[in-house]
Amino acid sequence: MIKINEHYLKLQSSYLFSNIAKRLEAFQKANPDKQIIRLGIGDVTRALPAACIAAMHKAVDEMANDATFRGYGPEQGYDFLRSKIALHDFQKHGAQIADDEIFISDGAKCDTGNFQEILSIQAKVAVPDPVYPVYVDTNVMAGRTGAFKDGRYGELVYLDCTRENNYIPDLPDKPVDLIYLCYPNNPTGATITKGQLQKWVDYARQNKALILYDAAYEAFIRDESIPRSIYEIDGAREVAIEFRSFSKTAGFTGTRCAYTVVPKQCSAYTASGDRIAVYDLWNRRHTTKFNSVSYPVQKAAEAIYSDQGQAQVRQLVDYYMRNADYIRKVITALGFKCAGGENSPYIWVDGQRDSWEFFDILLQKAGVVCTPGAGFGKCGQGYIRISSFNSYENVQKAMEQLKKAL
Ligand code: MLT
Repeated sequence: MIKINEHYLKLQSSYLFSNIAKRLEAFQKANPDKQIIRLGIGDVTRALPAACIAAMHKAVDEMANDATFRGYGPEQGYDFLRSKIALHDFQKHGAQIADDEIFISDGAKCDTGNFQEILSIQAKVAVPDPVYPVYVDTNVMAGRTGAFKDGRYGELVYLDCTRENNYIPDLPDKPVDLIYLCYPNNPTGATITKGQLQKWVDYARQNKALILYDAAYEAFIRDESIPRSIYEIDGAREVAIEFRSFSKTAGFTGTRCAYTVVPKQCSAYTASGDRIAVYDLWNRRHTTKFNSVSYPVQKAAEAIYSDQGQAQVRQLVDYYMRNADYIRKVITALGFKCAGGENSPYIWVDGQRDSWEFFDILLQKAGVVCTPGAGFGKCGQGYIRISSFNSYENVQKAMEQLKKAL
C-alpha cells in the first residue's frame, strides 16, 4: 500500500495566498460589477524593463538558428549572468562573493523552500513571527516542526517580531541550528542595521548554526546605512546563505529568475561533528534536481546590469516606492500606526482589530485586497499588509476608497 508523507497533514488547510485568492473569487462571483484593486500578494504590474525585453528578443532569435541555438545550459546558470551578479550585487559593495558561488534559479520562493532539504531532519529551526509562510510550510513537509496547536508548531522556535522590538527579534533563548531571516522584511517592511545583523552572525558562528537570509527586497533599500547583503557583515561567509530575486526588482514575477549565494566557507556538520561544505551539498542537489533557467530569461536578467538596465530598474523600483510613500502617508493620516514603506514595498498596518475582519471590511467596503497579518503568524494578528505593487492611479483610488470605508 502506498503511504503518504503524513507531515503534509499537519499543514494549515491552504497556502495563505491561495486562501486569499479563493475568498476574492467568491466575492467577485457574488459582486460581479464591483471593481477590485489588488494590494495583496506582492505581484508586480509594470512591464519588464526595455533592456531586458531587447535582450530576450535577441536570445529568442539565437534559439531560432542552428548555429546559435542552445540546448541544456550549466545547471548553476550561465557564467555571463553569474559574473555580472557577483560584480554588481556584491563585489562593488565590498562583499567578497565569487562568480561560482552564485546559483541561478527560477525563484527565491523555491530556493528558500528547498534549501532545508540538504540539512538534518533533526535541525532545530528558528523562524520569525510574522513570517513568509514558505519557510514554515517547507519545514512542516520535511517533518521538523511537530504538530500545529494554538496557532504554532510545537517544535519550531518562534522569534517574535513586534512593534516593541521594531520587528527585529531577540536572539533565541534556546540553542537553534537553522535560522531564517528576511530583510527588508516580508511582511513587516522592517529593516535591520549592520550592528543588529552582526549579532545574528556572531550567534551563528558561536553555535555552529546556519542563517538562511532572504534579501529578495534589497533593491527597495533607500537608506545607505542599511546593509544590502549579509555578506557586508564580518564572518557571514562562514554561516550564511543569501537569496535574491529579480521578481520584484525587475518585474520578473512571471518571467522567473532569481539566485542563491552559497559561499564556499559556509559549513554544516555530520552527526559525528565533521565539517562539510554546504556548497558541495547544494551543488549536488541543484545539479541533480534542476536544469537552470532558460537562455532567453538569463539573457534578460543579464541586461539588468547594463547601464540602461540599471537606470530602468531604478525607475521601476522608484515607481513602486512612490506608491509605498503615498500609502504610508494616507494610512498614518487616518490614525493607524504602521511600519515599512520606507525601504520596502510593504506597509504593515496595525488595524486595531482582527486581521481577517479588517481584510473583509477593506474588500467589501473599499473593494481593496490586502493581506491579513494573521496569515503570517500569531504576532501578525491585528495587522494587515498593504503592497505597493500596482499602478499609482490604482493606489490613489484604493486609498480614496479606503478613507471612505473607514
Ligand atoms: C508576497 O506577497 O509575500 C510575495 O509575493 C510572495 C512571493 O514572493 O512568493
